[in-house]
Amino acid sequence: MLRSIVWALVASLAAAGAVAGDSPTVDLRGQWVFAPAKDFPNFTRLRIEGQPGTLRGTISSEWYGDLPMLQLRSEGSRLLFQLDNGNPRVAKHDLVLTPEKPGLRLTGQLWYAQVDVTAHRAGRGELASSGFPTYPLPPLRDLPDNGLARTPPMGWNSWNKFAEGIDDKTVRDIADALVATGLRDAGYTYVNIDDGWQGMRDSNGVLQPNAKFPDMKLLADYVHARGLKLGIYSSPGPKSCAGYPGSYGHITQDARTWASWGIDYLKYDLCSGEAFYRTYEAVRAVYQEMGAALQATGRPIVFSLCEYGRFDVGAWGRKVGGNLWRTTGDISDDYPTMAAIGFDKTAAAEHAGPGGWNDPDMLEVGNGGMSEEEYRAHMTLWALLAAPLLTGNDLRSMTPATLAILANREVIGIDQDPLGRQGTRAQHGQATEVWVKPLADGSSAVGLFNRSSSPTPISVVWNDVGLGTDPLLRDLWRGVDLGHGGHVFNAEIPAHGAILLKSRPRPANTF
Ligand code: GLA
Repeated sequence: MLRSIVWALVASLAAAGAVAGDSPTVDLRGQWVFAPAKDFPNFTRLRIEGQPGTLRGTISSEWYGDLPMLQLRSEGSRLLFQLDNGNPRVAKHDLVLTPEKPGLRLTGQLWYAQVDVTAHRAGRGELASSGFPTYPLPPLRDLPDNGLARTPPMGWNSWNKFAEGIDDKTVRDIADALVATGLRDAGYTYVNIDDGWQGMRDSNGVLQPNAKFPDMKLLADYVHARGLKLGIYSSPGPKSCAGYPGSYGHITQDARTWASWGIDYLKYDLCSGEAFYRTYEAVRAVYQEMGAALQATGRPIVFSLCEYGRFDVGAWGRKVGGNLWRTTGDISDDYPTMAAIGFDKTAAAEHAGPGGWNDPDMLEVGNGGMSEEEYRAHMTLWALLAAPLLTGNDLRSMTPATLAILANREVIGIDQDPLGRQGTRAQHGQATEVWVKPLADGSSAVGLFNRSSSPTPISVVWNDVGLGTDPLLRDLWRGVDLGHGGHVFNAEIPAHGAILLKSRPRPANTF
């Protein structure tokens, strides 16, 4: 009764164009239930309590569970607040609650999405189920090495080209293409399905693939029959980055499900888990939980951590059973992004080595956004960084030039060198860079790069980059021996291009 009187008052004030002062005209305190929304972040309920001036509230969503409403304040008849979903990269904007008969409306911008949803006051029984569940995290410990990924993992991943548009047939086609193109024999053995395969959980909580993947076990059999391995993707959060179910609350169960399908590789992407796991301890613990669950299955499963390099992941990635860990945000198919990730955000080299690798994200070679020179530079840099080589293009329809970049055995050999050392920058000019990677046989790989958009000469004094005098040189992209290198190497590098050399020290007795 009282509520309807308040609403009548609001309606008449609104009709008269009245602007209220600092205190809210309408009492929005209480519990609210949102109309089911298909869109991010799927708000479910809202609770506001306290006194005018000291209001506090919690808003719940399927992505982030219960989030406190920050800076909750009134402005006329509206309430304004902000949310922190744990993503430090995004600006925070005001979200606005407006009384709107017969309930309220929530509008504003959250992360990259526009929100516009309505809610009604919770009726009796509507909030009967408890709030969003939270789960205890295990104490930190060091997991044993799983013995996998002695060299950086190689294969293909669906995301860069297909995003969510991935299905069983495409994965089978890609497996066939890996064989037919010779890429499998060049080392690309993992066929990794990224986000977009997940369906719903059954009544026992077992995660099912969606309709585009009729039978994961049969798909794994198909891939295995071709001498390849199958990878899959999930998140420690309730939702994956594209909004599919994550492994929140189902970690052990999901690990067992994947093992029963014959999965060989898991990419585990923080996504909506960033709202739940905001500290070093929490992020490490939740990755450890999945690492332990994978190991407990007894199946060898490569564990790929994807938490965008937070909390110095390279320092502890191995300790949670990880074999590779993303060190940056997402790559995209353009030279500036690739170069920023590859050259400027390089993770600490000392963390990389057999069993555990810094992961600057998957390859874009062949996706069309860069020139051939740029893709060669991309591949050169990834090989020098001992980065995982996960092709991200459509292997069914690539050009001979793309295949030549991906399949160059000598370049792959630099990436896969058994010493497992990540290369480092040895020289930095205005537009040029020199990177050196020590190799198991005592030689070194040397990358010469031109980051400018016009051809640029480069001059490298071998001694200045730690390679002695008169090394024996081979050009790996051209596949030609260059003979003795003297004291200095001079070349012109095309715009955004790269030269990759193998440099052998000149034996002492030949001087
Ligand atoms: C994140 C990851 C990407 C990809 C998408 C899928 O953005 O960093 O590599 O897995 O999620 O949604």
